[in-house]
Amino acid sequence: MSGGSDTSRELVSELAALLGPEGWLPPDDIADRLVDFRGVFTGSALGLARPASTDEVSVVVRTCAAYGASVVTQGGNTGLSGGAIPVGDRPTVLLTPSRMNAIEEVNTARSTITAQAGVTIQALQEAAASADRLFAPDWGARGTATLGGGIATNAGGINVLRYGSMREQVLGLEVVLADGRVWDGLRALPKDNSGFDLKQLFIASEGTIGIVTRAVLRLHPLPSAHRTAFVALRSLGDLDALFALARARPPGALSAFELIPETGVRQVVDRFDIVRPMSTVADWYVLLRFSGEPGVGDALIDLLATASDDGLIVDGVVADSTPHEDNLWLLRDELTATRSFGGFGVKYDLAIPPDRIERFLTLASAAVAEILADALSYAFGHVGDGNIHFTVLRPDGDDRDLERVAPDITAAIDRIVWDLGGTISAEHGLGRELRSRIVGQKPEIEFELMRTIKAALDPDDRLNPDVMLPDPPAR
Ligand code: MLT
Ligand code: ZN
Repeated sequence: MSGGSDTSRELVSELAALLGPEGWLPPDDIADRLVDFRGVFTGSALGLARPASTDEVSVVVRTCAAYGASVVTQGGNTGLSGGAIPVGDRPTVLLTPSRMNAIEEVNTARSTITAQAGVTIQALQEAAASADRLFAPDWGARGTATLGGGIATNAGGINVLRYGSMREQVLGLEVVLADGRVWDGLRALPKDNSGFDLKQLFIASEGTIGIVTRAVLRLHPLPSAHRTAFVALRSLGDLDALFALARARPPGALSAFELIPETGVRQVVDRFDIVRPMSTVADWYVLLRFSGEPGVGDALIDLLATASDDGLIVDGVVADSTPHEDNLWLLRDELTATRSFGGFGVKYDLAIPPDRIERFLTLASAAVAEILADALSYAFGHVGDGNIHFTVLRPDGDDRDLERVAPDITAAIDRIVWDLGGTISAEHGLGRELRSRIVGQKPEIEFELMRTIKAALDPDDRLNPDVMLPDPPAR
């Protein structure tokens, strides 16, 4: 990056003067923001802009444009596709809305919450709960991940099964555009048929066409009761039948359905302060939760009895206290391969039609074993949504072997995913990591339309360049 040029030095001193010491940090102070959560992508930047308001975001974007610099926006830096790390040789300013973390309004009459982009997911959950409402998005990084990042990636997590992804929560947005203008679309109307639904363009756009600064989001009734169970499957082949049973009894009670492998349980119990949920050892477990009226606890106990009678599960436990339940969900939070195993792993965030998960796992593990015999295929995730997190690891071997064959493994996995009617990005976005791999998975016209939108909204390619959008095909 040409950080040392006169133009870059002028840009830096102008931004430092505009934003003040709280609002501008030099590269030496932001090392942790220049590496992604998994340690796969390392970048560099002229510095970190920490604007305190929408107007300051706008000024940063305009100033960068005047000096020909790019802007990469980063929330909590918990992304898993490398979309928020400034990699590349263009002069780039990293921008974070971390100082814009106000919850501006919880409106119980409308069941909405209005907040700035830098607020954490956990802060939104807590503010909603104290008004007797539910802010539904939830995933392991809730304490660090921000609203802006969640919207930019259309984040998912464990509650999507009942409440949908971030997209389903967003009623209105405020966005700073690539030329610095501010679009105030902070409307809170569940129905609005007055033309293109522009907010949808910015959700999942990964910072490439605008910077989300504020949002109005849907809240849901806070369930008056919930209960969690951990069950040991007789075999993976019983997953579909258990899911069908759990969805039906009683209808609408199921709010989470997560697949957990024994390899993951062993790993997190060894590494973290987590109690093994049951002495029965099986290859696969399901962590499931019922939420709703107080009777859901009894319904869950009934479900386990039926599943056991039907031979779908060999054991099960229903959490009978908050610490017991917290232990089960902590186990789930720590399953991500970076936390549970550490080190290098080839990681996939896949969606497969839910009834084909078993088939996928059989085919994918066999394909991996054929390429690298002693590699470990590690899978867990939100299988109620068909979303499986699949990581290939070499826990006791040489990571360099894995790195060498990673392209072959990826080609094999992608083929299986496409054959089964899935996608290679369920909830983590495309970022830098997947933008080339997505080519061939969708009709080229979809990429053309996406490039047309990018060119219209960011004609000079200033916002998060080289992220999400694949390069045009060579003519
Ligand atoms: C999760 O569900 O834990 C996250 O998506 C993280 C991961 O895939 O590792
Ligand atoms: Zn996930």
